[in-house]
Amino acid sequence: VSLKNFNTFGIDAKAKMFIEIVSISQLQSVLKEFKNEKLFILGGGSNMLLTQDIDALVLYINIKGITTVSSTNQHTVIEANAGENWHEFVLFTIAQNLGGLENLSLIPGNVGTTPVQNIGAYGVEIKDILLYCKAVEVATGEIVTFTNAQCAFEYRESIFKKELKNKYIIVSVAFQLTNNEHQIHTQYGVIEAQLQSMQITNPTIKNVSDAVIAIRQSKLPDPKVIGNSGSFFKNPIVEKSILTQIQTKYPEVPFYTVNESLVKIPAGWLIEQTGYKGFKKGDAGVHNKQALVLVNYGGATGQELLALSQEIQQQVFNKFGVAIEAEVNII
Ligand code: EPU
Repeated sequence: VSLKNFNTFGIDAKAKMFIEIVSISQLQSVLKEFKNEKLFILGGGSNMLLTQDIDALVLYINIKGITTVSSTNQHTVIEANAGENWHEFVLFTIAQNLGGLENLSLIPGNVGTTPVQNIGAYGVEIKDILLYCKAVEVATGEIVTFTNAQCAFEYRESIFKKELKNKYIIVSVAFQLTNNEHQIHTQYGVIEAQLQSMQITNPTIKNVSDAVIAIRQSKLPDPKVIGNSGSFFKNPIVEKSILTQIQTKYPEVPFYTVNESLVKIPAGWLIEQTGYKGFKKGDAGVHNKQALVLVNYGGATGQELLALSQEIQQQVFNKFGVAIEAEVNII
């Protein structure tokens, strides 16, 4: 089975076996039946680079459904199953005037993978609104609920990428959303500027979502048109002394303060300075509007993209002494 249509990079890797999972009970019986088989869990396929064929049983998690769990004067808890498309789910909540997810509009992928890497954009991360998620334990088939704290979220990290990697399959995620007293997050300069250009002074959650969509569409390639996985690298978190060193030569270097001693530097900026923005080698390239995004112009292999990413890592390290780490899962 070709996985080309199941990963947003559009890599033509093959799976030994492939089963589409549409319910929790089906998942549990498949786990039992194929107990001795090596498994590969696939969601929206928006955060991985396939560099080889998958010699395993691929379980494509496509469980649909959205339910309202509870509602108070202030909050509504909505639980979405893992196979729901993320952006469609965000629009569904906004259409009901439920606040919290608007800054995370237009992120590719499915609901079930959002906790794994604690997706984030424009000053909001999934950890700010996630109440709990439910997962099936691969070894036992048991359904376990993870509270927000138990997910151990950090910047683009969670327990599902670390200690519990490959041990649980997330089947649903619940979010605590605001009914009317929405907290609007426009502290990111680009959002402020976008709203201004849209002549909006008192933004609603719909306005914020529209602004985010406009910004993303202007900078990030649409995976349906050009294969990509969003940010290929994480923004490196470094000692302030490293920043100071870079500032002596590049006073304009952008950064975000993490705490007293650490800062985060945009990897996209570091990559652009090394001259890779818009770079192309065969069908593997670096997006011309956002250097953090690697792209597949059609026929690139996972190996070619991996080689390009390593070349970039090396060049950034040579120039700045900063190691940038992949954000996507390299398979
Ligand atoms: N920059 C450059 N050149 C570039 C790209 C960026 O100089 O080619 C500079 C920008 O001018 C800006 C700064 O770097 O000063 C930050 O750029 P941007 O706002 O585009 O965000 P980012 O830090 O590159 C992160 C997330 C994105 C998220 C945006 C917006 C990571 C790894 N990426 O990117 O997430 O959308 O912030 O909040 O943290 C994703 O994970 O797939 C993703 C797109």
